[in-house]
Amino acid sequence: MTDSGPKFNTFKFLKIIVSSFFIAVLLLLTIASIRTLSLDVNVGLQLAQWEKTKNISLVIGHRQREELLAHFKEAIRIPTVSFSEKESNTTALLEFDRFLRKAFPTVFSSSLVRHELVANYSHLFWVQGSRSDLVPYLLLAHIDVVPASESDGWEAPPFSAKEMDGFIYGRGTMDDKGSLMGILQALEYLLMKGYAPCRGFYIGLGHDEEVGGDKGAMSIVREMKLRGVQLSFVLDEGLAVLDGVISGLEGPAALIGISEKGSATVKLSVFMVPGHSSMPPRETSIGILAAAVKRLEENPMPRLFGHGPEHGTFEHLAHRFGLPMKFIMTNLWLFAPLLGRVLERKPDTNAFVRTTTAVTMFNAGVKVNIIPSLAEAYVNLRIHSAQTLQEVLDLIQSTVGDQRVKIELVNGFDPLPVSSMDEKSFGFQIIKKTVLDMFPTVTVAPGICIGNTDSRHFKDLTNDIYRFAPVWFKPGDAQRFHGINERISKKNYEELVVFYFSLIQNCDIQKLPEPHSSIHEL
Ligand SMILES: *[C@@H]1O[C@H](CO)[C@@H](O)[C@H](O)[C@H]1NC(C)=O
Ligand SMILES: *[C@@H]1O[C@H](CO)[C@@H](O)[C@H](O)[C@H]1NC(C)=O
Ligand SMILES: *[C@@H]1O[C@H](CO)[C@@H](O)[C@H](O)[C@H]1NC(C)=O
Ligand SMILES: [Zn+2]
Repeated sequence: MTDSGPKFNTFKFLKIIVSSFFIAVLLLLTIASIRTLSLDVNVGLQLAQWEKTKNISLVIGHRQREELLAHFKEAIRIPTVSFSEKESNTTALLEFDRFLRKAFPTVFSSSLVRHELVANYSHLFWVQGSRSDLVPYLLLAHIDVVPASESDGWEAPPFSAKEMDGFIYGRGTMDDKGSLMGILQALEYLLMKGYAPCRGFYIGLGHDEEVGGDKGAMSIVREMKLRGVQLSFVLDEGLAVLDGVISGLEGPAALIGISEKGSATVKLSVFMVPGHSSMPPRETSIGILAAAVKRLEENPMPRLFGHGPEHGTFEHLAHRFGLPMKFIMTNLWLFAPLLGRVLERKPDTNAFVRTTTAVTMFNAGVKVNIIPSLAEAYVNLRIHSAQTLQEVLDLIQSTVGDQRVKIELVNGFDPLPVSSMDEKSFGFQIIKKTVLDMFPTVTVAPGICIGNTDSRHFKDLTNDIYRFAPVWFKPGDAQRFHGINERISKKNYEELVVFYFSLIQNCDIQKLPEPHSSIHEL
């Protein structure tokens, strides 16, 4: 991901609600409990009869395991760092290209696969399906990583791929070379076993995701648009399997990202006539700007919890909580405002409640005895699904409420559309089935990405973008993202390969089964 935002890890705050507010609404209990009983959204299509596919199985033997881990480690050792929008390690990107061709010879030589380089360092693969009437899909991953330095406190050098206690350490193990290598390794094995897909699909590997994807992903999109491609769905990185991270939840949860928050960077500036510090005016550019910034901090964007897709997360997970949490979570129509107040108390859950406002830069002054003419500040906002970029800009204008403060949008975009997740949603159900076949104890739920991914550039090519890989996150693992000691267990990397191996085959069905008839309805 571009930005390691806080993860969905703090349902424990819901507990506070119990003591503080619960009693006051006991009267509504009877109405609400009817809803609790009727909502078990997790049954879905899992009991239905799925169309048969060839279903080649992957049994990873000792030699194969050694080989796939060796490939993965080699990928980690190539420092494909994006330093800034303008600067990346192009030597490493070229080396990575050579490495892929060597590691996956079948992918690069199969008559079913068309490979091309895009924007010099990004890759686009088309794997031809036997049935041209089935709408293709796209698997996305990115080659580049954020910088890492051993001196930041890594237990192993960040580009060493060193093995410790069953884990492989290194920048990119989670973000995003696990997915990238998992996808290509799965395809390599499938092709070696003589597999030919029914449904054609693309694999896109961007080389500058960590700095916005303007070259890689956007060029891939341009190519696909030129060819008139429409996609059934896109699967990219984003959310993961949370294990022991959401307190109160029984068992792990696989959160599939169905949207991403929007983003805006806004520049505030105040220009005054410069002067000497011996005869200061009553207000300086710094004072005016500081007051504006303070007003923005004191007046956060409105609480919108329950107005975006976050309610879906709660509804899907509710049945895995004990009472009274289950009750609260299945009755958001009643509890959303209350819950919003609880969640906003901590920065990581506040991010789900509203558009967040962060003042990230403040510049003014060059000399101790000169009153500067110009003071500038940058504010970075992450826009909640229920708001637009324009609404956010209007609110900033009115909150600042001072004509002397010039407000400019540096860059920004609206929150991403919300992808479908119902029983007719092909991508969501395929991902869900693949997860549940592999990990039967996991609960699958939709989630929202706080950071952004390359997949947002593909929104004109499909209605359904999902952000997920079955990377297991335990408490504390979120900090490894873009942080120190990024790692993945050897077992988990193997699971990624198996996941894509099954997912690709599961996509071969013509259409989803009819929903099973015994879905609880009262
Ligand atoms: C760029 O990558 C190459 C390996 O491909 C490596 O030798 C070199 O040190 C890297 N440069 C920087 C500045 O990290
Ligand atoms: C690709 O490389 C060529 C030649 O080195 C360069 O002129 C061009 O700008 C590059 N394209 C991108 C998108 O980086
Ligand atoms: C493929 O086989 C596995 C195990 O043999 C099974 O769990 C899965 O449901 C099958 N998938 C399909 C699409 O038939
Ligand atoms: Zn990433």
